[in-house]
Amino acid sequence: MESKPLNVLHIEDDPEQQLVLRVLLDAAKPGGFRLVQAGTLERGLACLDQLAFDLLILDLHLPDSDGEVTLQTALARVGKVPIIVLSGNDSDELATRFVQAGAQDFLVKGHFNPRLLLRSIHYAIERKRAQESLRESEAFYHSLVESLPPSIMRKDLEGRFTFANRNFCAALGRPLHEIVGRTDFDFFPRELAQKYVDDDRRVVATRATIEVVEEHVPATGGTRYVHVIKSLIHDAAGQIIGTQGIFWDVTDTKRAEQRVTKANEDLRKSNSDLQQAQASLIEAERLQTVGLLAAGVAHEVKNPLAIIQMGLDYLTRQFSAGDAATRGVLEDMTDAVRRSDAIVRDLLNLSKPGALALQLENPHAVIEGVLALVRHEITQRGVSVVREFCDRGAGVLFDRAKITQVLVNLCTNACHAMNDGGILTIRTRERAITPDEFQRSAGSRQGILFHPGDSVFEVEIDDTGPGISDQHLDKLFVPFFTTKPAGAGTGLGLTVARNIIESHGGAIRLRNRPEGGLRVTLHFKI
Ligand SMILES: Nc1ncnc2c1ncn2[C@@H]1O[C@H](COP(=O)(O)OP(=O)(O)OP(=O)(O)O)[C@@H](O)[C@H]1O
Ligand SMILES: [Mg+2]
Repeated sequence: MESKPLNVLHIEDDPEQQLVLRVLLDAAKPGGFRLVQAGTLERGLACLDQLAFDLLILDLHLPDSDGEVTLQTALARVGKVPIIVLSGNDSDELATRFVQAGAQDFLVKGHFNPRLLLRSIHYAIERKRAQESLRESEAFYHSLVESLPPSIMRKDLEGRFTFANRNFCAALGRPLHEIVGRTDFDFFPRELAQKYVDDDRRVVATRATIEVVEEHVPATGGTRYVHVIKSLIHDAAGQIIGTQGIFWDVTDTKRAEQRVTKANEDLRKSNSDLQQAQASLIEAERLQTVGLLAAGVAHEVKNPLAIIQMGLDYLTRQFSAGDAATRGVLEDMTDAVRRSDAIVRDLLNLSKPGALALQLENPHAVIEGVLALVRHEITQRGVSVVREFCDRGAGVLFDRAKITQVLVNLCTNACHAMNDGGILTIRTRERAITPDEFQRSAGSRQGILFHPGDSVFEVEIDDTGPGISDQHLDKLFVPFFTTKPAGAGTGLGLTVARNIIESHGGAIRLRNRPEGGLRVTLHFKI
């Protein structure tokens, strides 16, 4: 007990009783109390305003107030001061009623001694203190639960809500009394409610706290992501009585994460595009150097070749009536010079295809011309030709001679690949570029020349040959790459073809067809 004297207010109109209490208090603890006594409730309560009391001892029958009203009036005014009711009436029922109403104790006049009084005073003060600190702690937790941003709810083992904080109620758009007693199925779509119930069951079955980020459908609609922690609730005896969940909205974080992942993917893709572009540049540069060198040599060879050709023409005329052997030699030489001349022309095309003589051409007529030029290659191998032409009335802008050169090479390549016969299909169509096209493919150094939606005239040349092995696919455009025996191919055809097509602003792509054989695709802007 404190060493300081306790301030006790005694409201009692009977002077005799006043004296009795004074004597009893003195006997209980001499000098332990500072007693103030008032004869009416009004005067007594007025004292409360002037002095900080540790205890109020209250008689209920006063001149200005009688019975339980006296206690109610006092309770409304005393704040944290504990009250002991003194009554002349010894009734347990009355005692219980007064304590339930808020008094700390009930003593019957004439039935207590100093020891009992002292004990009652201590208990009253301590009990009041405990009540106050419980109330404060409850207020503290209540304000935490109600004012923190997370939503909090509790359910019993049957999945019925037993509590929901303000944010949970707001998220559901319902007041607490409409939530308590109901289940998830009353508020959420069936599938989602079942998921929540399964989560709760899992918590009960495993006795483990679960923590997940899951989808949530608020009353306002739309989909939100919430971080959820679900755990068990035990009663005072340690029995499991339900589950509780605490969750908070992480939609913004989730969306930011998704944006970062997407940005990362984009970055990875740009990086790989950049690497490919760099590789293409290096290759283009290398090609240009090779081309320049080859063109330089070709230029030097061109004139002597022309002189040899003229000499051969002269000799052929001179020996037109000569012996067959000489004529045979001259024919072989003329053939060799013609081949050399074709190589020189290709070499010159390697560096730059030269100025284009662009005209609106009928692409199908050009293709027919090409098929006539390679007729020998076709018939020799028993290749059949299939034409699948579209109905394009308007022409396509290109250099007829150069495109003919490209198509002759492509058709010749196809025929060479089908030595024992096969089908050469030439297909044309007009169409729009789709978003996933021209993301670079093996065998093409093409950047993204076309954009999704661009209209193109497309030529497809399919053969039924063996196609191209993976190891060769990315060498096709390397100058002089050939798998043909010496004399049968120089390995310049595709390199020159690509130069020509790209100088038209078009694209060439080679890929193996799943059903076998190779498909070459040409795209021209229209
Ligand atoms: N339709 C095809 N089927 C299979 N392989 C092909 C086809 N077209 C091209 N190739 C392969 O690509 C290589 C290069 O072709 P390219 O046209 O550049 O040179 P080439 O035909 O060998 O010689 P040329 O300079 O006379 O054209 C060929 O040697 C061949 O191995
Ligand atoms: Mg070729």
